[in-house]
Amino acid sequence: MDSKPYTFDIKLPGGIPDHYDNHIERRLSSMRGQFLDQKAYSERLAREDTLLYEVYEFKRPEIAGELLHGISIVHPGKVGNEYYMTKGHFHTVLETAEVYYCLQGQGYMVMETPEGEWSVEPLRPGSVLYVPPRWAHRSVNTALDGDLVTFFIYPGDAGHDYGTIESQGYRKLVMDTPAGASIVDNPRWKS
Ligand code: PA5
Ligand code: NI
Repeated sequence: MDSKPYTFDIKLPGGIPDHYDNHIERRLSSMRGQFLDQKAYSERLAREDTLLYEVYEFKRPEIAGELLHGISIVHPGKVGNEYYMTKGHFHTVLETAEVYYCLQGQGYMVMETPEGEWSVEPLRPGSVLYVPPRWAHRSVNTALDGDLVTFFIYPGDAGHDYGTIESQGYRKLVMDTPAGASIVDNPRWKS
């Protein structure tokens, strides 16, 4: 792999980089069990497997010392009253952090630790979010009229543990309520 320095541009608005190595699309079908309103989820899935978010990655070796980086784009919309969001994950190597820089849109990062702490931080253009080691993270797009675009950087050896969140969910959800985007307890959270 080329280890010379490089630069790239990220088109704004839009957020698609002018080059990248890998493009990941995550659809409704990969989020089974994650949205609170399971009836709304199943009904939607029966109609279409909606594209919820996309990731543009730059390939680097997945080893300590490297920094993996790319762009995450969460599209606007809701399943029931819950905004589109990423699957979210712990890092396999729990003691690894991540930095997000919000380029476009509006939303939240929902986070929690295995010890039971939780935090929900706002994301708006210009926000830098530091996700410390041990914190699972999920981005949520609360703007119903545009994408949430973030640039992320994390250690090459971090890895992704999706299974823990898939089986227990997050303690907190971000829902569209008459009072606007609200952080609520997840009644289906399992310890
Ligand atoms: O490393 C990260 O945390 C991000 O690149 C995410 O992977 C990205 O936002 C997509 O989310 P997820 O990996 O939870 O599907
Ligand atoms: Ni991560």
